Amino acid sequence: MPDAVLRYGEQELELTSHSGTEGDTGVDIGKLRSELGLVTIDRGFANTAEGLSAVTYINGEEGILRYRGYPIEQLAEKSDFLEVAYLLQYGELPTKTEYEEYEDAITRHTLLREDMKYLFEAFPHNAHPMQILASATSALATYYPDALDPLDEEAVDLSARRLIAKTPTMMAWSYKYSVHQPYVYPDNSLDYSSNFLKMMFSVPAEEYVVDPVVANALTMLLILHADHGQNCSSSAVRLVGSGHANIFSSISAGIHALSGPLHGGANQAVLEMLDMIVSEGGDTSQFVKRAKDKNDPFRLMGFGHRVYKNFDPRARIIKKAAEEVLDALGVDDPLLEVAMELEQVALNDDYFVERRLYPNVDFYSGIIYRAMGFPTDMFTVLFAMGRLPGWISQWRELSADPQAKIFRPRQLYVGPETRDYVPIDER
Ligand code: CMC
Repeated sequence: MPDAVLRYGEQELELTSHSGTEGDTGVDIGKLRSELGLVTIDRGFANTAEGLSAVTYINGEEGILRYRGYPIEQLAEKSDFLEVAYLLQYGELPTKTEYEEYEDAITRHTLLREDMKYLFEAFPHNAHPMQILASATSALATYYPDALDPLDEEAVDLSARRLIAKTPTMMAWSYKYSVHQPYVYPDNSLDYSSNFLKMMFSVPAEEYVVDPVVANALTMLLILHADHGQNCSSSAVRLVGSGHANIFSSISAGIHALSGPLHGGANQAVLEMLDMIVSEGGDTSQFVKRAKDKNDPFRLMGFGHRVYKNFDPRARIIKKAAEEVLDALGVDDPLLEVAMELEQVALNDDYFVERRLYPNVDFYSGIIYRAMGFPTDMFTVLFAMGRLPGWISQWRELSADPQAKIFRPRQLYVGPETRDYVPIDER
């Protein structure tokens, strides 16, 4: 008995299906074109599973997110970022020895090649840090040609560790360059988040003590962003990797994909939107009205999600953390109040209720980043820092899959039929 039968005119195609451990069942349409001459149309891949993945489980209807089976709520509360990075890549939580070895390796790779400084200095001071990070990530491949072979597991592991170690340094240095301050070198006595904060915010002239409230909040945010299945940027990373491009090039593509305001760029866009609401008098209902108007390009940034048709579980955690962190830091940000009011207005509005649009991960994260002292244009780079282990895990999963193929979607051609070339003076 086939699992499904597809009838098209007089023809029939028997289809097999695959069930995941949890969640969706997939029907394999791989023979559709060769047997029936048909391709599928699936705008935005909303209904397509490119392959099988064991990294992250999301149930959008119930608002569930798990990395390798572990609920995000538990990881956010009890784990730390490098442990999560290990879990995502290797599939299991590390033992104490494995953790120490991993942390030590990451810590020892935090320095950048000294000549990379000139790369940062080639950018205008007001360059967006996402562009710089994508370029610097791509440039890493030129500094480490010893470990680029995507089919060599050991080389991939080394490159993955270099990436996780060097990304905070690249981010901090792009910031330091933008504010005309000297670069601060990594401090290997500090944990991952604290080291990054020190490179970002300290100056050689003064002693800098990392605030544990800020470091813990950063770690929690990094964990919450660490993976999210086949989203736009992870799919970009996998797509580039499917052609056996090296891991640095693939991750650089992911950073570019993340930069868009419909994806990771939304965290910056949310803050800009909240600022605009305040500067225009604070009437949130006006902005909800605009978001519903199909003739107005304005959307409520930080609202809605392709997969979540319920509360994004990350948004729940971040909202609570935003209140706690601002309180602990003694920050009174009027934008938090505006955000909470906006959320309430939208959640009680038929338009948002019918379309099941809820706050997503980007809605409250910017408020915390701002309280920590990050400038708005660093928000999406912070998302990238968190998502890095997820991108790497997704890339590694694909390159280790013996059934993986180069990504090459079909299309329905709707352009002109064949026609003869006309010389320019006859057109
Ligand atoms: N404000 C107003 N209307 C919205 C919004 C919004 N934020 N999001 C969706 N809609 C409407 C949309 O106009 C459509 O209405 P209709 O059915 O009348 O045409 C309906 O809801 C379904 O939306 P869609 O655009 O077809 O949904 P999608 O799955 O293609 O897009 C999304 C998902 C996240 C791009 C979209 O919800 C959006 O643009 N949100 C704002 C940007 C944002 O916050 N992005 C961050 C996403 S979460 C983290 C990440 O991926 O980085």
